[in-house]
Amino acid sequence: MSRKSIWITRRLSDATLKRAERDYDCIINWDDTEHTADQIVEVSAEVDGIIPCHSEHFTAEVAARLDPRVKIIANHSVGVDHCDIPALKERGITVTNTPDVLNDATAEIAMLLMLGAARRAIEGDRIVREGEWKFWSPAFMVGKQVTGARLGIVGMGRVGRAVAEKARGFGMDVHYHNRSRLPADQEYGATFHETLDSLLPLADFLSLHCPATPETTGLMNAERFGRLPKGAVFVNTARGALVDETALIDALEHGHICAAGLDCFATEPGGNPQLAKFENVFMLPHIGSATVATRDAMGFRALDNLDAFFSGGSPRDAL
Ligand code: DGY
Repeated sequence: MSRKSIWITRRLSDATLKRAERDYDCIINWDDTEHTADQIVEVSAEVDGIIPCHSEHFTAEVAARLDPRVKIIANHSVGVDHCDIPALKERGITVTNTPDVLNDATAEIAMLLMLGAARRAIEGDRIVREGEWKFWSPAFMVGKQVTGARLGIVGMGRVGRAVAEKARGFGMDVHYHNRSRLPADQEYGATFHETLDSLLPLADFLSLHCPATPETTGLMNAERFGRLPKGAVFVNTARGALVDETALIDALEHGHICAAGLDCFATEPGGNPQLAKFENVFMLPHIGSATVATRDAMGFRALDNLDAFFSGGSPRDAL
């Protein structure tokens, strides 16, 4: 079999790039810049496969213009909302993702955001850092306790389950809403809710772990924020599209939500500058899966999918 050519659109881990260069003729974006639709289309004429990240958008329009040489898009992400999968499939292009390998890293960030938002990490850090810590009292910087609190998980897929498992370590009473109930051995003792509406009023903490699809876009709107108990903490490590940010800001302004932890935003990169005024919002720049071990595992999983495809097999993570 002749060596295949692939395009690696972003700066993946060193171990991933080393293996990719061993096995493929690679175009690597060493500068790690983002690409316009026209640039994606242009490079597609030079390669048999692409390893993109969620930063490259394969819309229906891009899919229609991709060079017929491209046969596979092996995403370096579990989320595939940046890909119009039906349009890519119509072009005969196989699409894969990288499930499983980022569960723990993302669940760690969900716990970090939950703890940081509830225990006022941003405000505390700023006070100490800026030399503003001039006072202490038992009434000072009192937050909300995570241990023993009720956690609502929306989407009990692989990441949701990893969060449930970690939350159990904090003695949280975990409830979840999912399209269907999981077998008991995958529930980690969590209570199933058939509807989101039955979960929300119980969720002292609410954490989103569902994919962004046309059905889930704007899932957390004003009405649903209003159904959370007053003083709830809201966490999103899934996708910004799930949240109506104006409704979130309103819920924060009225104190209905006491704090939020966000790793995902409607606009990325950049986030929402209107959220910056809230010291009770702990924000991170979409780094849920950003650990050395997980980046290697994601890169290797994308390469495994390419290898399987080009050797005539069926990639494990074909969508
Ligand atoms: C994913 O894998 O979907 C993460 O959000 C990083 O892209």
